[in-house]
Amino acid sequence: MPGNYSEKVMEHFKNPRNVGEIPNPDGTGHVGNPVCGDIMEMYIKVKDNVIVDAKFKTFGCGAAIATSSMVTELVKGKTIDEALKISNQTVIDALDGLPPVKRHCSVLAEDALKSAIDDYLKKSTGQGLPGFKPHTEEHHG
Ligand code: FES
Repeated sequence: MPGNYSEKVMEHFKNPRNVGEIPNPDGTGHVGNPVCGDIMEMYIKVKDNVIVDAKFKTFGCGAAIATSSMVTELVKGKTIDEALKISNQTVIDALDGLPPVKRHCSVLAEDALKSAIDDYLKKSTGQGLPGFKPHTEEHHG
């Protein structure tokens, strides 16, 4: 067992919450890190401006799985505005820290959430998240 992961990270890695897809989601996020090749998909259900459900599928490392698990937990019950305040640092803190080399995994989780919100806003208002540009974008081909 790697000694530099917090117990919470290991726990979310072993028992990730909210894995899967939401049928007919209100927003879908899809991001990837071209360097490590990890991919994250996030689905949100929104009711009266509140995120009532969130699920994810992560094809990636343990820290990517733990951070996406935690971000879906943090975001449930939050308004869109509150959810947008969740940064990768919020996720790291909630997991009692991440080794420095694994920080980019938490950025992927933040981007997946923002990408899902961006998609939701585009669908509901016709306009995406102002200034949203994933730090990490999947490049095809
Ligand atoms: Fe890239 Fe974790 S190694 S997301």
